[in-house]
Amino acid sequence: MKIINAKLLKSYVGKTALVRIDLNIDEKTDEGLFRLQSVLPTLSLLIKNNVRIILVSHKGRPTKTEKKLSLKPFAEIFEDALGTSIDFIPSLEFDVITKKLETSDSQIVLLENIRFLKGEEENDESLAKQLASLGHLYINDAFAVSHRAHASVASLPKFLPSYAGLCLAKEIKSLTLKKKPAHPFILIVGGAKVSDKLPIVQKFEKSISTVLLGGGAANTVLASEGIPMGKSLYEKDAIPSIKKYTFSSIIETPVDVAEAKGRILDIGPKTTKLYTALIKEAGTIVWSGPMGKFEGKGFEKGTKAIWKAVVEKATRDSSVKIIVGGGETIASLALLPKSMRLLPENVFLSTGGGAMLEFLSGKKLPGIKALK
Ligand code: 3PG
Repeated sequence: MKIINAKLLKSYVGKTALVRIDLNIDEKTDEGLFRLQSVLPTLSLLIKNNVRIILVSHKGRPTKTEKKLSLKPFAEIFEDALGTSIDFIPSLEFDVITKKLETSDSQIVLLENIRFLKGEEENDESLAKQLASLGHLYINDAFAVSHRAHASVASLPKFLPSYAGLCLAKEIKSLTLKKKPAHPFILIVGGAKVSDKLPIVQKFEKSISTVLLGGGAANTVLASEGIPMGKSLYEKDAIPSIKKYTFSSIIETPVDVAEAKGRILDIGPKTTKLYTALIKEAGTIVWSGPMGKFEGKGFEKGTKAIWKAVVEKATRDSSVKIIVGGGETIASLALLPKSMRLLPENVFLSTGGGAMLEFLSGKKLPGIKALK
């Protein structure tokens, strides 16, 4: 896999790069800004080397064109961040795009949400070919979606010279753990995207010491043990596939919870105590997904306590390696006082959630594989 650099870009001066980024974010949140910021080094390098940029991204999981999932608002944000004009092309019809590219003076062009086209999630090669026809090189700087075998991620690199962007390269470097990560290796899994995460947990079974579960992930495992979940967030459909590791000795589920109106909304104080004690002793920590509905008042305690334990551990013990990823988890960092949000160097914040877990579990991500 080749990573873009100034020397390499010399052969692409005046040419056009298709840059896959991940704008699957709410641009008004800190978490959104974090993902936006992560691609700025790549874009600045391309601008500096006079390479024209076509930005390609998805947002959400649309089944048709949905105004609220348009990428239009991002044009202005990038304009402010990069100090250069950006042309947003609202149509995904290729003759319209080609015409606009011919007439636009802007060095950066932003395409509309690529998931508005059916072929994207179907990994349609003809869509990939059409996209490839717009440029001269392809750059993947979208680590967060590199676990999806979609047209602009996995097939497009087949048709153009393809490179890793600076954010993708940093993710790969930071997430490549030693063959035998320092023990105890603690994996903390929470959040809502349960069916995506639990099968991955299984892949870690040989390398980790303990899995601490919270949020929808814990509820789903508890439901599979026959505990009634009422109106709590859990995924019924995921239960058959997780049955086999429900009783696994490395999995810790909450021993108490905070509830409201029959819904589990956070881990309880006893669980928090148990989990933070285990974090104190860890050699390696990977965390994806909050412990509960942290945006709801009164249900942020568990997630806040885990953050506090993680930051204190990182500050006290510089040898511990800590990786935190996933949009909601990064957003929940705001629960900490400002002084604690300046994280020590041994904490890496990943732009990926599911992608981070898949990468760490040893799975080859289609978007990265395609660059090799
Ligand atoms: C993410 O935000 O995790 C990525 O953009 C992937 O999104 P998806 O789960 O909808 O494929």
